[in-house]
Amino acid sequence: MSRLIIISNRVSAPKDSNSGAQGGLAVALAAALRENGGIWFGWSGDVTEEFTGDINFQRRAGVTAATIDLEQQDVEEYYNGYANRTLWPLFHYRIDLAEYERGFAGGYVRVNDRFADTVRPLIEPEDVVWIQDYHMFPLGQALRDRGCRNRIGFFLHIPWPPRRLLGTLPEAADLVRTMFAYDVVGFHTEEWLESFRDFAVKDLGAELGEDNTLKLGDRTLKAIAAPIGIDCKEFVEGANSPAARLAFRQMRDSAVGRDMIVGVDRLDYSKGLEERFRGYERFLERHPEERKEVFLLQIAPPSRAGVESYQKIRTTLEGLAGYINGRYADVDWVPIRYVNQGYPRDQLAGIYRAARIGLVTPLRDGMNLVAKEYVAAQDPENPGVLILSNFAGAAAQLREGAVLINPYSAEEMSDAIIQALRMERQERIDRWRVMMDNVEKEDVIWWRKRFTSVLMGTEQETEPAE
Ligand code: G6P
Repeated sequence: MSRLIIISNRVSAPKDSNSGAQGGLAVALAAALRENGGIWFGWSGDVTEEFTGDINFQRRAGVTAATIDLEQQDVEEYYNGYANRTLWPLFHYRIDLAEYERGFAGGYVRVNDRFADTVRPLIEPEDVVWIQDYHMFPLGQALRDRGCRNRIGFFLHIPWPPRRLLGTLPEAADLVRTMFAYDVVGFHTEEWLESFRDFAVKDLGAELGEDNTLKLGDRTLKAIAAPIGIDCKEFVEGANSPAARLAFRQMRDSAVGRDMIVGVDRLDYSKGLEERFRGYERFLERHPEERKEVFLLQIAPPSRAGVESYQKIRTTLEGLAGYINGRYADVDWVPIRYVNQGYPRDQLAGIYRAARIGLVTPLRDGMNLVAKEYVAAQDPENPGVLILSNFAGAAAQLREGAVLINPYSAEEMSDAIIQALRMERQERIDRWRVMMDNVEKEDVIWWRKRFTSVLMGTEQETEPAE
């Protein structure tokens, strides 16, 4: 069996095999590495005076992590710059926030070249390389330029913007052209895949072949949609752990009989938190009878604090939460509990289970695994209701069971909250069941096998059921 070389900006090989604080993706990729053998390569997260290219190897729980440090200018231009001030907003349809600076573009290419230079000697002829996410679009091409003939796949964890939006990026054509260095390119939904194909065909003149292959010059890539899932089995176990039970009881006690609505998001403008607060306010305004019967717990750990738009959204939300609380709170009730820290997954599972409503309302999101975790954490006998944005990748899979809304509409948010609060138990159970069937079936192991089987050309053996 081929070894896997996984490359991503962040490397999160588990500290020990049953570490509960890992994200689903980290767990899945670590499992793939344990099965196939291989290396997980990326940035250490540390900054050194000058770039050295020294690789730090660590073996943890059967996974070899290989990391390099970057220098300050790299972090500014590549991570804070091109990745998070140019690509992230553009790919989330926010060209109003996207900054197009040649310095960022240059730093991005330089760092990708640095990754390529350092990882190249680690790649053996039979290895299969799997690159993750928007930090590394040109890495496949950089590896090809260094003589790498291996199978190389790429997976994008964020949306792919419509062709006309992508066209605003000065380097758009080059960026997409370099993606033809990959053998397989994966997206979470058909929608993102279609937008990619559209740009490749209409702007670059790529030829569309059978089975979603795209040909440009002498390179052919296969584009697939493979929605990522959570490690459902592990998450359900976590939801029944002592830590989860304790968190559940504490939340129920502190709710004193009120219904809890929960939101859990990185503090990011793409998550639609401002719109969520405004929608919730609309609900409070429209339904005075519900005021003291519910509260919203919004957990939002700060993210990418070195980027101005993130500092701004943080200030905006502080002001808005303060305003809504000031306007509606009473001596014995506060409408929004706004919390800026993260929690371990087991504890979160208990909190999800205690919530009557899960509010997942991003303005645009590649997938959104919180929606799936909320579903997996529910009590099958008395589940809560998921209110989900139409614009999250997860909506493609959960649309039958969730209450779907347009997150830009405060009215729809308000209506959905009242609908969820009044929903009979049987309807909640029915809706939850269809969602849970999907979360169980299309879990993270299914996702990983689906992608790697196409990449490794072993599709027949492992192609999962529709
Ligand atoms: C999104 C991206 C990931 C990224 C994560 C956290 O999910 O798709 O690639 O790792 O956000 O962001 P950060 O900038 O902290 O790595």
